[in-house]
Amino acid sequence: MYNLIDGKKVASEIKKEIAAEVLKLKSNGSKIPHLAAILVGNNGSSETYVANKVKDCEEVGFKSSLLRFGSDVDEVTLLREIEKLNNDDDVDGFIVQLPLPAHISEHKVIEAIDPEKDADGFHPVNLGKMVIGLTSYLPATPYGIVELLKRYRIETSGKNCVVIGRSNIVGRPVSILLSQKGMDATVTVIHSRTKNIQSLVSQADIIIAAIGSPGFVTADMVKVGAVVIDVGTTRIESSETRSGFKLTGDVDFENVAPKCSYITPVPGGVGPMTRVSLLRNTLLAATKRLSHS
Ligand code: GUN
Repeated sequence: MYNLIDGKKVASEIKKEIAAEVLKLKSNGSKIPHLAAILVGNNGSSETYVANKVKDCEEVGFKSSLLRFGSDVDEVTLLREIEKLNNDDDVDGFIVQLPLPAHISEHKVIEAIDPEKDADGFHPVNLGKMVIGLTSYLPATPYGIVELLKRYRIETSGKNCVVIGRSNIVGRPVSILLSQKGMDATVTVIHSRTKNIQSLVSQADIIIAAIGSPGFVTADMVKVGAVVIDVGTTRIESSETRSGFKLTGDVDFENVAPKCSYITPVPGGVGPMTRVSLLRNTLLAATKRLSHS
C-alpha cells in the first residue's frame, strides 16, 4: 500500500509556524511582513493562484497588496511599477505572476526585480546563488518539493532521481537542489528531445513530473517502490466541480499509485507547498530587512 504525501497538511503546519513568527514580530513592535503581487490580464489559473496567495498572507498575518493591470499594459509601465515596489520601504517582497502577455519580456521583468525582494526566487542573482549553494530565495515549487521530501524523511542520498521537464521555475532548479550536498541525489533531467524516456524513468527511485502533460507518467514507466512527486497542474474542464475546472497532474495516479512507496496527489500535494514557500521567502525577506534597518 502506498503512502500519500499530504502537502495540504504539511503546508498547514508550516503556516502555523509562520503565523507564530509573525506574532513574535508584532509583540516586538516590528513591522509585519508585506508581500505584493502584480497580476497582468485575466488568465484563469493566474487569477486563482494570486487569489490564493493573498488568502495565505491573511491566514498567517502578513500584509498583502494586489496590483492589477490589463493585458494591454506596456512593458515600460510594468517596469516602472516594479521600480516603485523596489523602492517602497513597506514592501518586503513581491512577485509578478507568470505567464505575462507575449508583448512583455519575462526576462526583463524578472531582472528588474530587486533580488532582495524577489520572493519567487526567479532573479538570476538568486538562481546563481542557489546553484553555488549560497543562501538565497529559492523558487517556490522546488523549495516546496524539497521540504516535502524532508518532512516525510524520504532518503535522497545516492538515489536515482529523474526530473521530467526543464523549466526555469521547476524542473531545472529542482534538479540542481536535489544534486546538491545534503540532498546528494543522482539526477537525470528529461525533456522533449530525450531518447528512451520509458527506460530512464523506470530506473528512478524518485520521479519528479513537471511537464504539464496530464497522465504523462504511466504505470509501465514506474519501478515498484518509487517515490512520485507530481507537479502538474493542468486545468481541465469538469462537471464535477463548482468552478467548472479541475486540476490534473502529470501522473496517471490511479494506475501508478499502487506501485509507489510514496506519491503526491493533485490537488493537495505540491501546490499547497508552493504557496507556503512564497510565505517563507517573504518572512525571510522581512527579517533580513529588519536586521539591516
Ligand atoms: N506561474 C506559475 N507558477 C508561478 C510561480 O511560482 N510564481 C509566479 N510568479 N508565477 C507563476
